[in-house]
Amino acid sequence: MKSLQVALFLAAALRAASDPCATISSSLSPDAKVYYPNSTEYTLAIEHWLLSSIQQPQCVVEPSSAQDIAAILKTVNATKTPFAVKGGGHASNVGFSSTTGVHISLAQFNHTRLDASAKTVAIGGGTKWISVYTTLDGTGFNVVGGRNPSVGVGGFTLGGGTFTGYSWKSNAHGLAIDNLVQVSIVLPDGTATTASATSHPDLFFALKGGFNNFGVVTEFTFRAIPQDLVFGGHLSYAAADLAAVNAAVVAFEQNNTDTRAAVVHGITGLPAGNGTFAAPVAAVQLFYDGPTLPEGMFSDFFAIPAVSSTWDGPITFLNWSGTDGGVSSLRGVFHAFSTLPHTPEFLQDVADEVSAFGNELGNKSAVYLSVAIEPFMKTALSNNNATSRSSAYPPVRSPVLLPSNIFFGYLDATEDATMHAAIAQIQANIVAKAQARGLIYPESKGGSIYSNYALAGTDGAHVIDFYGPAHLAQLRSVRAKFDPDSVMKLAGGWKV
Ligand SMILES: Cc1cc2nc3c(=O)[nH]c(=O)nc-3n(C[C@H](O)[C@H](O)[C@H](O)COP(=O)(O)OP(=O)(O)OC[C@H]3O[C@@H](n4cnc5c(N)ncnc54)[C@H](O)[C@@H]3O)c2cc1C
Ligand SMILES: *[C@@H]1O[C@H](CO)[C@@H](O)[C@H](O)[C@H]1NC(C)=O
Ligand SMILES: *[C@@H]1O[C@H](CO)[C@@H](O)[C@H](O)[C@H]1NC(C)=O
Ligand SMILES: *[C@@H]1O[C@H](CO)[C@@H](O)[C@H](O)[C@H]1NC(C)=O
Ligand SMILES: *[C@@H]1O[C@H](CO)[C@@H](O)[C@H](O)[C@H]1NC(C)=O
Ligand SMILES: *[C@@H]1O[C@H](CO)[C@@H](O)[C@H](O)[C@H]1NC(C)=O
Ligand SMILES: *[C@@H]1O[C@H](CO)[C@@H](O)[C@H](O)[C@H]1NC(C)=O
Ligand SMILES: *[C@@H]1O[C@H](CO)[C@@H](O)[C@H](O)[C@H]1NC(C)=O
Ligand SMILES: *[C@@H]1O[C@H](CO)[C@@H](O)[C@H](O)[C@H]1NC(C)=O
Repeated sequence: MKSLQVALFLAAALRAASDPCATISSSLSPDAKVYYPNSTEYTLAIEHWLLSSIQQPQCVVEPSSAQDIAAILKTVNATKTPFAVKGGGHASNVGFSSTTGVHISLAQFNHTRLDASAKTVAIGGGTKWISVYTTLDGTGFNVVGGRNPSVGVGGFTLGGGTFTGYSWKSNAHGLAIDNLVQVSIVLPDGTATTASATSHPDLFFALKGGFNNFGVVTEFTFRAIPQDLVFGGHLSYAAADLAAVNAAVVAFEQNNTDTRAAVVHGITGLPAGNGTFAAPVAAVQLFYDGPTLPEGMFSDFFAIPAVSSTWDGPITFLNWSGTDGGVSSLRGVFHAFSTLPHTPEFLQDVADEVSAFGNELGNKSAVYLSVAIEPFMKTALSNNNATSRSSAYPPVRSPVLLPSNIFFGYLDATEDATMHAAIAQIQANIVAKAQARGLIYPESKGGSIYSNYALAGTDGAHVIDFYGPAHLAQLRSVRAKFDPDSVMKLAGGWKV
């Protein structure tokens, strides 16, 4: 009888040892949650903007406190269990915020707290921008955040905050990370601490672009900046007018001096039926950060006849940002490149590449091919109201390296490998054409790449291209100091 009890006890202990979810479950605070496969909560917690980014973990753990996160990290390290940290779930690379091991959902870290007297906004590590903008609406304050409101504050900020991390407000205020005041983090050894200009400044530097290599972030504190009403619109143009739009984008890039104005230009391929793609069209977004639109602002764009357009203002920033579009029903791959200021000839090169890949991928379930061109001002990363410009990303701030995102959206899972190879190829083709036109910054291999868009597993996307050699060396020494046991290497993502 006694030996049976011992055997049962041993079996249970063994099960716990081999089942990190059970061990974690017994070490959490009452408000924390553990969800298992096929429950509604599990399915919601693992969802991603792209279907292709989803994996099925052993369990979902939803910590409620920094102590819970410490307990989870302790168990995954002790059992060497792969894990994922999910913020807003917009990673395009499989395994960056998904896993077959333990999936950490930061859903309970979703607060936004404005301190109007200190002029700061403290935001939970699992919050989406839509929640931030909704909370700040009507307060007269905002932060330099994501353009797409469904994106998570966590991944966006830890990656640098470009494309859309290059915020609508980047011409005047720099990157999101340039406005970061403090980060609260649970280190890989379970210690809860803060990083700022005065507390662990080396870690603070590393977190500004260095992703999930240093622990789990529970809160980001940003500088609050005044927000008045704004103007904005979405305009799409016929393929025949693409050259005119390209010229307007370049003219804006060269001649606009108003830091409140911003443009994004999407060179976009769409299906034309029966496995063919139509000639690329222009999808342009115009934004003005103020209640009065200066005479003539964006007039080049308004002069070209649009196929469809919206144009509103003065409206609130929240109205402009729109609603959380939820998740897409697409699979997808992202990639990136950066160039010196654009020329019309180079934008035509990009359109030619989109056209060629439309022909190749049209009958492989592709539904959307786009290259986003972002004509930021020459001064966007250097001469603005940034709080600090000391950060792991970007490798250089002058000259400004303009980030571009490539996105291929498609439907068929059997095309995953084809799409991965195709987007790597179009990126290489575009970089080669940019190089031929003298638009690649010579000291930046591959043209520098914005990590939040880069495709995993290709030669074109080594971390050296995100940070440059000097910043990468700093990141590596900070990683060795704060994660000597490589706990965070059990989580996917860009590893320094
Ligand atoms: C539709 C769409 C629009 C986009 N628009 C923009 C844009 O406007 N500007 C822009 O710059 N980028 C944009 N992106 C890219 C986006 O910034 C990145 O995908 C970003 O990493 C997403 O962050 P997330 O928290 O939503 O993603 P997740 O997939 O949850 O996280 C991404 C990475 O960050 C890590 N991470 C997240 N939160 C934490 C945390 N609290 N602590 C530690 N690690 C964490 C994850 O482990 C993962 O490796 C867009 C992407 C999509 C799909
Ligand atoms: C979840 O449901 C699917 C089918 O709906 C089933 O194949 C699978 O075995 C289930 N998994 C668990 C862990 O219950
Ligand atoms: C945070 O998430 C909880 C559910 O987990 C939700 O009830 C609450 O409204 C969210 N808060 C914000 C500010 O989004
Ligand atoms: C700094 O911010 C203020 C207020 O938003 C703005 O008016 C000013 O133009 C900005 N300065 C620069 C250099 O963009
Ligand atoms: C991680 O686990 C190893 C044993 O595999 C242990 O030696 C080490 O102290 C742990 N590190 C942390 C930070 O918990
Ligand atoms: C910028 O403005 C100058 C002076 O008005 C003009 O000569 C030039 O053509 C403009 N650049 C573009 C690309 O339109
Ligand atoms: C697709 O092909 C079918 C038959 O080959 C034709 O009837 C149809 O019109 C085509 N559709 C388009 C959009 O070209
Ligand atoms: C479709 O697929 C074939 C063979 O895979 C390819 O040769 C062709 O170019 C593709 N595109 C179209 C539009 O048919
Ligand atoms: C914002 O949008 C809401 C709903 O669409 C509308 O009622 C409101 O008037 C708008 N406010 C501004 C300032 O644009």
